[in-house]
Amino acid sequence: MFNEKVHVMTHPLVAHKLTIMRDKNTSVKDFRELVSEVGMLITYEATRDLPLTTKEVETPICKAEMPTLAGKKFAVVPILRAGLGLVDGVLRLVPSARVGHIGMYRDEETLQPHVYFSKMPKDVAERDVIIVDPMLATGGSAVAAITEMKRRGCQNIKLMVLVAAPEGIAAVQKDHPDVDIYCGAVDEGLNERGYIVPGLGDAGDRIFGTK
Ligand code: PRP
Ligand code: URA
Repeated sequence: MFNEKVHVMTHPLVAHKLTIMRDKNTSVKDFRELVSEVGMLITYEATRDLPLTTKEVETPICKAEMPTLAGKKFAVVPILRAGLGLVDGVLRLVPSARVGHIGMYRDEETLQPHVYFSKMPKDVAERDVIIVDPMLATGGSAVAAITEMKRRGCQNIKLMVLVAAPEGIAAVQKDHPDVDIYCGAVDEGLNERGYIVPGLGDAGDRIFGTK
């Protein structure tokens, strides 16, 4: 259905945790913790291609050349506001990552997203970037965020979401076919208000308890 740039998680823990998140009766506290946990599990997959080198270690038995991360520079970029919920899950696995932030608002007439805030590490153009947001619905926000990171010179960009609609995946692939997309699940589609069906509702409201 999708090409090799789309990575849909098949791990039972991801599926199980997403099901709890989809339940409208799940508390804000549990929802927030699950966003972070699922974020960490998807990060595990999204970092599978990190380059390794070797270094010498002395075990209690002998000296040996052993694998270690090559120390490639990495940045995680949450789309405000719901993307913030995913940051600590990424940082738990890649603690040296820098964090950039992108804020987006939607023009009420054109419905097009616009970047109103973009604060990045100075050397972001030299870093591998993972943009994080729980939801990929129409794809407008993700496309605009990727465009902004490319404008800043970033060349190796990944997108990580918890739940995606096929429409959002298609939109990202149309404008940014070079970007790998990592999704916890791909749902049926969008309703007339642009919400993912069955989805999990408004991710930002559920993370921050604003509804
Ligand atoms: C949500 C979500 C994405 C966007 C997805 O954010 O976190 O950023 O919608 O929709 P799209 O794919 O159609 O662009 P929202 O605009 O609700 O803001 P919030 O993070 O402040 O809740
Ligand atoms: N944004 C959300 O938070 N949820 C959706 O289902 C779609 C967009």
